[in-house]
Amino acid sequence: MSELRVDAVVIGAGPGGYPCGIRLGQLKVKTVVVEREYWGGVCLNVGCIPSKAVIHAAKTFDKMSHADELGIQIASKPTIDMKKLQAWKSGVVAKLTGGVRTLLKGNGTQFIDGKAKLAKGEGGLHKVIVEGKEPTTILAKSVVIATGSRPINIPGFTVDQKRILDSTGALALDHVPPRLVVIGGGYIGLELGMVYAKFGSKVTVVEALPTILASMDKDCVAVVARKLKKMGVEVLTDAKAKSWEDKGDRAVLTVEGKDGSSKPTAITIDCDKILLSVGRRPNTEGLGLEEIGVKLDKRGYIVADDQCRTSVANVYAIGDVIGGMMLAHKATKEGETVAEIIAGHKAAVDVRTIPAVVFTDPEIASAGLTEEEAKEKGHTVKVGKFPFAALGRALSVNDPDGFAKVICDAKTEEILGVHVVGNGAGDLISEAALAIEMGAVVQDLNLTVHPHPTLSEAIREAAAAALGEAIHIINRPISGAG
Ligand code: FAD
Ligand code: NAI
Repeated sequence: MSELRVDAVVIGAGPGGYPCGIRLGQLKVKTVVVEREYWGGVCLNVGCIPSKAVIHAAKTFDKMSHADELGIQIASKPTIDMKKLQAWKSGVVAKLTGGVRTLLKGNGTQFIDGKAKLAKGEGGLHKVIVEGKEPTTILAKSVVIATGSRPINIPGFTVDQKRILDSTGALALDHVPPRLVVIGGGYIGLELGMVYAKFGSKVTVVEALPTILASMDKDCVAVVARKLKKMGVEVLTDAKAKSWEDKGDRAVLTVEGKDGSSKPTAITIDCDKILLSVGRRPNTEGLGLEEIGVKLDKRGYIVADDQCRTSVANVYAIGDVIGGMMLAHKATKEGETVAEIIAGHKAAVDVRTIPAVVFTDPEIASAGLTEEEAKEKGHTVKVGKFPFAALGRALSVNDPDGFAKVICDAKTEEILGVHVVGNGAGDLISEAALAIEMGAVVQDLNLTVHPHPTLSEAIREAAAAALGEAIHIINRPISGAG
């Protein structure tokens, strides 16, 4: 077994771990990153990137299917070659994952393939043992745990990637299942459910809560719910998947729902595949955390403070493994912050908002508080809303569904939250995140000149609407004392 002495070791090379390793290299901290499976983590290999590639393909397919509205005649209906789509998607993933090691190397950070585990330290240093082709013992002053998360299972639904899929299986299908049931109407269920609905699957979504996408602005969710209905996707809310049976030619799923009277009723659904997307849980097992005394919370996440420090000195944890919003950019922010701290700089994850985007069609993007959250925090709010249907750009690209909503404090006019549903919402939301980080008031958005014709005008007009000054809609009395 070889031995390595470094200043820092990062366990896991996802969007938390690899940017942390890169930044440590830039800061001249001698670092090694250890990864057991996926350089680039879930995000680059089986998450954000491959899902956005198939979402793009499905959107293109859908646009082609409706091209005649624009006078474009396509001789026959488009068809989808899933094997070819998989090959293209894999190419996109390979380009990005290949770059991770190049970037680490280019910044002077070492990397090792293997499974890492913490052990009792020696000489005031932490010890990490790596199992792999080249077993290695690493001694380091600082350790960063960035081991990410994996899907939650529900009893009776063992993922075999044949009948019961998780997101990885659903992203790797080489055919379109005629009937797909999605258990869980959250990010994954709706993003991937919509993909297969566009490619022709009959999709049913089974969601335990009274609403899909419960964490997002409810007006935005209503727009996506309408679109799902229009696409023929059936959404069962207040419904829990209980059991399933393999009947050879099909699977039969039993769902317990409510019949409107609070009495549970059982429904059965015939389908070909079942996608299980009921959330994710942290990867903490087999890491030796108990051995060195790293504390976990009740739900199994590593407890970390705003500097990502765990209960053990010089052991940090970042990304999905510490919970909160399980998003790639949140993991990256934490990774970069920890690198600064290890290098001796004063830093903390001191952000007002982690924006979130659901890549449904239309997309939902959100930064800051929803109206309900703002009111719960004691704000009296003013809300401005501007529909995409009144936006030249949205109409001219044939995507008129959606709106932008700006929420500000009624007295100070500080921007508290921005929520957008519509084409390109994910790309529009960064302006809102900047405004919230800078403590901007709604006039700042209103007075900023936005280029025409662009979708970004929706945000400026929504800000103007909050002040009763929107130009392209009739202003309504300002809403919302809370
Ligand atoms: P991970 O990406 O999970 O990386 C952890 C790494 O640690 C893995 O590569 C793992 O192999 C490695 N590891 C674990 N244990 C060990 C060990 N003992 N030794 C060595 N290595 C180890 N987020 C977004 O922001 N936008 C999106 O569009 C988006 N889309 C998604 C789509 C899907 C289908 C899924 C599943 C997730 C998506 N996410 C998205 C969430 C995002 O992928 C995660 O939030 C993000 O990957 C978390 O980063 P991380 O670095 O904490 O962990
Ligand atoms: P999720 O938390 O987004 O949604 C899970 C849904 O399943 C919830 O609505 C929950 O109420 C429901 N549910 C739980 N148990 C159930 C049951 N027994 N029967 C029916 N419904 C049940 O989790 P998801 O979709 O698995 O995604 C995991 C995480 O990955 C997300 O929370 C997000 O952090 C990340 N992600 C982010 C994306 C993005 O940023 N665009 C895309 C995909 C994933």
